[in-house]
Amino acid sequence: MRFDLDHFIADCRLALAEDHSHKLIREVVARAVSDPASVLTRLGEPRRAEVQKLYHSEDLTILNVIWGPRMTVMPHNHQMWAVIGVYTGREDNIFWRRIPGSENGKLEAAGAKALCEKDAEPLGGNIIHSVTNPISRLTGAIHVYGGDFFGAERSEWDPETLLEQRYDVEKTMRLFEESNAVFASAKA
Ligand SMILES: [Fe+2]
Repeated sequence: MRFDLDHFIADCRLALAEDHSHKLIREVVARAVSDPASVLTRLGEPRRAEVQKLYHSEDLTILNVIWGPRMTVMPHNHQMWAVIGVYTGREDNIFWRRIPGSENGKLEAAGAKALCEKDAEPLGGNIIHSVTNPISRLTGAIHVYGGDFFGAERSEWDPETLLEQRYDVEKTMRLFEESNAVFASAKA
């Protein structure tokens, strides 16, 4: 079946009504990205690094996240579960944990997961991750969050010191624009 955004949102809402975890949503996302060409037809070929809001409510946020070439976003948490479905390119996740007893929430690396086209990966509500697009072209992924992604109070960690600070959504959005600037100047 071809990817249809309205159907996708409706399917996510139904899945959430049936089960408040990410279990059924993961199946909906997996189904969508199993046909990447169809998703690309509806969402469009990625042209620039950006975050497109596809759906946003108190209990569910759906984003189309386009990562710039070799772009990295510092460690952060979400305070809600998420499902990431890659429909073009690659996305590398490093998972982190707070070092027990450390001050200022300092992190240590705990694991990693390489996501490829057609992968649909659930992330638990307590997860801390950083994301890198390791390739030289744009990566596109559908991100579904079990809550209000833009309203939740959460943390990010300085990429150099790995110390905890308050999440700054504007700062993260600037990373996408910085990536576009680098990409544009490389092409000029
Ligand atoms: Fe994230």
